[in-house]
Amino acid sequence: MDRIVVRHGGPLQGTVAVSGAKNSVLKLMAATLLAEGTYVLRNVPHIADVECMSDLLTSMRIDVARTADDELTIVRPADVVPEAPYELVERMRASIVVLGPLLARFGRARVALPGGDDFGPRPIDMHMRGLEALGATLDVSHGYIEARADRLLGTRIVLEFPSVGATENALMAAVLAKGTTVIDNAAREPELADLASFLNRMGALVRGAGSSTITIEGVDELSPVEHTVVPDRIEAATFLAAVGVAGGEIDIAGARADHMDMLIQKLGDMGMRISPNGTGLWAMAPSRLRSVDVATLPYPGIATDYKPLFVALLSLADGVGIVTENLFAGRFRYIDELIRMGADIRVDGHHAVVRGTPRLSGAPVKAPDIRAGAALVVAGLGAEGETVVHDAEHIDRGYERFVEKLRGLGADVERVRAN
Ligand code: EPZ
Repeated sequence: MDRIVVRHGGPLQGTVAVSGAKNSVLKLMAATLLAEGTYVLRNVPHIADVECMSDLLTSMRIDVARTADDELTIVRPADVVPEAPYELVERMRASIVVLGPLLARFGRARVALPGGDDFGPRPIDMHMRGLEALGATLDVSHGYIEARADRLLGTRIVLEFPSVGATENALMAAVLAKGTTVIDNAAREPELADLASFLNRMGALVRGAGSSTITIEGVDELSPVEHTVVPDRIEAATFLAAVGVAGGEIDIAGARADHMDMLIQKLGDMGMRISPNGTGLWAMAPSRLRSVDVATLPYPGIATDYKPLFVALLSLADGVGIVTENLFAGRFRYIDELIRMGADIRVDGHHAVVRGTPRLSGAPVKAPDIRAGAALVVAGLGAEGETVVHDAEHIDRGYERFVEKLRGLGADVERVRAN
């Protein structure tokens, strides 16, 4: 595995551009299952998860090609193999979102059950219940979901929790169902609204995406389209955290302030100044931030994906902050790595109490997942000496040219390839 070496340096400055959102593009790629023909996706990031979804679509006999630096052309033939094998679902849990579109378009699907991951258990009961409400029959045996439906029928689905994946699966199934579907307590993430606008461009009739109630009038046919992926708010947040740790003044080209309201407010409470600048965001951070309390919540609350960045920021801030995780109970594993870097953090159930210290101390650490890996690199910017983040490939799953982009802001960071 490669490693990323970070050294404490001066304040950051310059401009960095955000790429297209991982958590949007993966779902748009899955949505191409809904209609035969040629699609063009733009602003597609060079990340490992896009490769993974490409491999999954290819295994279904769909043609996926990079036709320009940020462009993916997907040719969906009339027939596909409606199956997501274990090897691919195990590599990337988001593969589960092919279930809804496969069922809607082909009336059957065989999709490996995703397991838990580093955050702990990640059930898919809400995905399954939503599809069953639309009239599908789902059987689980030998580690696979075998799903069937003659014609899905519009219905009212009330989600127990605004799950992103369950909302997406229900939405992509409902666009071709007969009649009207209402999804209540739907997830409201900007990536979900991006998926709905992609589907509407294809000819679907989706209203209310981005709010808690989504209404879908089923249609008989959809057609392929061209679409530009929304910018990645979590990548943008990572650069905000980097300047929060290192201090300085940066521009983040392409970032959408309207997708990051609560985050910008919290970072403002910590002493950062952030505002839209016409092409993205401008951000300035003093040499040391103030501590705040943070609780993760579904959008528009503070995203669970931002949390490792907040823990890194609080480790270096002035004061004590309490971080509460409300989405993934096990998403605290990287904290042991931060403690190895001298952070003062106590975890109690869903809470972490973080006492800020003026400087961390560089140490070898391990990236447990995408966001925590990026947060450890960010923490390294505020640590004396050298921090070596092992297992850097986790970061590649969701960040395009992460090291190069940080270097462009003046950070002292490099990637060391494994032999
Ligand atoms: C999406 O995962 C994102 N992934 C995650 O980003 C993100 O952390 C998460 O949403 C929350 O914002 C993608 O979009 C590919 P959920 P998803 O269903 O859809 C529980 C990253 O690093 N739940 O909204 O899987 C679940 O256990 C990734 O980019 C059920 O109980 O998340 C969790 O507690 C990591 N049953 C909560 O809901 C279900 O059927 C939210 O999960 C489904 C979910």
